[in-house]
Amino acid sequence: MTSFEEQSLSSEPRRVLVTGGAGFIGSNFVHYWCQNHKSDRVIVLDALTYAGNRRNLIDLENNENFRFVQGDICDRSLVEALLQEENIDTVAHFAAESHVDRSILGPDAFVRTNVVGTFTLLESFRHHWDRAGNNSEYRFLHVSTDEVYGSLGPNDHPFTETTNYAPNSPYSASKAGSDHLARAYYHTYGMPTITTNCSNNYGPYHFPEKLIPLTCINILLGKPLPVYGDGQNIRDWLYVGDHCRALDVVINKGKPGETYNIGGNNEVKNIDLVHTLCKVMDELAPKLPVRPSQELITFVKDRAGHDRRYAIDATKIKTELGWTPQQTLEGGIHQTIEWYLTHQEWWQPLLSKEYQDYYASVYA
Ligand code: NAD
Ligand code: TYD
Repeated sequence: MTSFEEQSLSSEPRRVLVTGGAGFIGSNFVHYWCQNHKSDRVIVLDALTYAGNRRNLIDLENNENFRFVQGDICDRSLVEALLQEENIDTVAHFAAESHVDRSILGPDAFVRTNVVGTFTLLESFRHHWDRAGNNSEYRFLHVSTDEVYGSLGPNDHPFTETTNYAPNSPYSASKAGSDHLARAYYHTYGMPTITTNCSNNYGPYHFPEKLIPLTCINILLGKPLPVYGDGQNIRDWLYVGDHCRALDVVINKGKPGETYNIGGNNEVKNIDLVHTLCKVMDELAPKLPVRPSQELITFVKDRAGHDRRYAIDATKIKTELGWTPQQTLEGGIHQTIEWYLTHQEWWQPLLSKEYQDYYASVYA
């Protein structure tokens, strides 16, 4: 940890409710938090959907400051009981339906969890915060995405916190709805909400249907590497550990009612990223069914409404809170590939019948 982050730690231990803490970013955050804030109590609330995996948190099960609760953020009585029972002062809200392709196949769950679920949490926390005398130390961190800003042209300036919302997929529209609710709870009730809008994350515990883990796993299995459309779409990639550090700084130093954009300064075309993954995999994997693995690259039908380019201007979080990403894309990709190579027992069981059915419906 840098001295800046040490200074930013709150002196009193927090009691943190992490929603979606068994998912990709949530579980990385829980590990990060338990490591860096050892006296804080951490309660995970997670419904364990296809994307949630209790094994992501297995090494914390015996930690007396950690508790896992399986449940739905739309269940108001459960959420209220937890807030009260654990005397929660900080919510880190990650729980969401998060995959654009799934939102195209079935948007219902996205509106339910992302909009109604976020509303349920905000409303429960509002009453809880009222009962605590509107304590100004309480925080509600709403973790959101850059996708709410829509799609950029090749020469457009990256998204800033004042870029107009223009979500294009059911996923991003439902996240945009939840962002507006979080904003309204600050402006109407003064509740200390803060929203972060982050670019594409990658790293350990990433569910195998997203681009980076899917490519790595398909290389290991000798399966085609599907690239949508012409492969020229651009995403900004951020190592998940950098995201967790940013969220720490936001919780401890961020200003209630504000939003902060978080990005990696790593704009890459999808096809270039897939080529890099192939190259690093060829170097690091001892045995591969097809080598060079770039022979597996297959262009497939484009995603409906596929946003062309995302890019983040992270000047505000840098100048106001002192955060910048530390991991290079090259270093992060190496580390991530090493992780997938040494954690086959983690991802193999996830390639279940449900996964195969999903795969068939997207790539048919
Ligand atoms: P994920 O899909 O890996 O995990 C989501 C978690 O939420 C899972 O553990 C799931 O079981 C849980 N969940 C889903 N519905 C629930 C419900 N109704 N009640 C309780 N738990 C429920 O997602 P992720 O990639 O870790 O993303 C976490 C958050 O970060 C999301 O809000 C997402 O919008 C945001 N985000 C993600 C990225 C990214 O690149 N993955 C980028 C920016 C922002
Ligand atoms: P993804 O990991 O699904 O994240 P998001 O849609 O939230 O950006 O996809 C990243 C990019 O990769 C996106 O432009 C879609 C593209 N993509 C493919 O080309 N092929 C695939 O099989 C997948 C899953 C994604």
